[in-house]
Amino acid sequence: MSATICAFILTFSTLCGSRVVSGVLNPPRNVRHTSFNMDLVLLWDPPEEAPEGLVYTVQYKTIKTTYTEVCTNVSTPKCDFKSHVYAYGKYTSQVRAQAGDEISPWVETNQTFLDKITVIGSPNVSLFSSGATIEVSITDPVFATSSLRSVYVRATYNITYWKEGEEEKTIISNLEQNRVVLNDLVPWTKYCVQVQIDTNRDPKFSEPSTAICESTTDDEEPPWVAAVVTFVAMAMTVSLVVIAVVYRKMIYNFLCPKDTLPQHFKEYLLEPPNSPMYLAMRNSHPPEEVYHQVSIIPDGKTVEEGRPLEAAGTNCSRQQPVTSGC
Ligand SMILES: *[C@@H]1O[C@H](CO)[C@@H](O)[C@H](O)[C@H]1NC(C)=O
Ligand SMILES: *[C@@H]1O[C@H](CO)[C@@H](O)[C@H](O)[C@H]1NC(C)=O
Ligand SMILES: *[C@@H]1O[C@H](CO)[C@@H](O)[C@H](O)[C@H]1NC(C)=O
Ligand SMILES: *[C@@H]1O[C@H](CO)[C@@H](O)[C@H](O)[C@H]1NC(C)=O
Repeated sequence: MSATICAFILTFSTLCGSRVVSGVLNPPRNVRHTSFNMDLVLLWDPPEEAPEGLVYTVQYKTIKTTYTEVCTNVSTPKCDFKSHVYAYGKYTSQVRAQAGDEISPWVETNQTFLDKITVIGSPNVSLFSSGATIEVSITDPVFATSSLRSVYVRATYNITYWKEGEEEKTIISNLEQNRVVLNDLVPWTKYCVQVQIDTNRDPKFSEPSTAICESTTDDEEPPWVAAVVTFVAMAMTVSLVVIAVVYRKMIYNFLCPKDTLPQHFKEYLLEPPNSPMYLAMRNSHPPEEVYHQVSIIPDGKTVEEGRPLEAAGTNCSRQQPVTSGC
């Protein structure tokens, strides 16, 4: 009997208390948890007929803890739980509005399983082209708490690739390794690649990576390189043959000269340059040469001396009379 009275009084006082609070200010609406890469954020809409200077207070709890205040007197309709969450938690939150002395009732969310609501961001994808293949390297998104592999043990990748500008796409699904070589590609073609993580659980919230593109080459040299090299080699060969044919006489004469140098010239050319004259020329400025004009008169004709020394020498030995001191 007394328990019933007690319960009655308690219920009454609670009702009175809540009426005192809730009668004044409308509560926030559309209160919801959102999560991206295992973070946790509470969002809501302002109450109807919200007065000026409205602030909000947010509390959260797990199945093991009681309510803890996370955001106090915030003016934006958003509360980030940042460092308060851990991967496998079940979270419940509540928010109320306050304006001066007027306070709204708490609005509570349903219990939320973080790993069921979180949206998994796109993986980081790099492409490396090697010949007619492209290697796809995938890095998992970084989670606010824990890591992709420890939360979603069975996660795999779906790789979609296609020739740039074409509609037809190829999908490789359920890939477990994060390095994959695409090798059924056409050489000298640009391919685009997109990767999405599949948690293999329901529901599946994951974002595909933005498409990135890379061109294949070929295992060998590009065809034009071989063509250019062949062309240049052939052109050079043909030119050499033509030159050899046209100038064959000159080349023959050069290689097998008919005239041989006189013996004293060979000796002179082979002699080591150690004569006092040579040393003097090397160590000082060339001395001013003093010469006189000379005339060589072979067979009554007058020739101005201006020929090279060798020629003059040759003439000297062959022709008489000579009136010079060469
Ligand atoms: C929050 O705001 C209310 C009323 O505006 C004020 O009474 C209270 O002291 C504030 N709390 C904190 C922690 O600033
Ligand atoms: C809480 O769960 C119930 C039943 O599952 C659903 O009808 C209700 O809309 C949910 N509330 C929120 C705020 O998500
Ligand atoms: C992706 O990788 C690049 C280079 O390794 C790095 O700079 C970038 O921050 C990464 N992005 C994400 C979302 O991890
Ligand atoms: C990955 O590919 C499989 C098979 O095509 C498909 O059933 C699954 O829904 C894909 N996953 C995602 C996250 O798109």
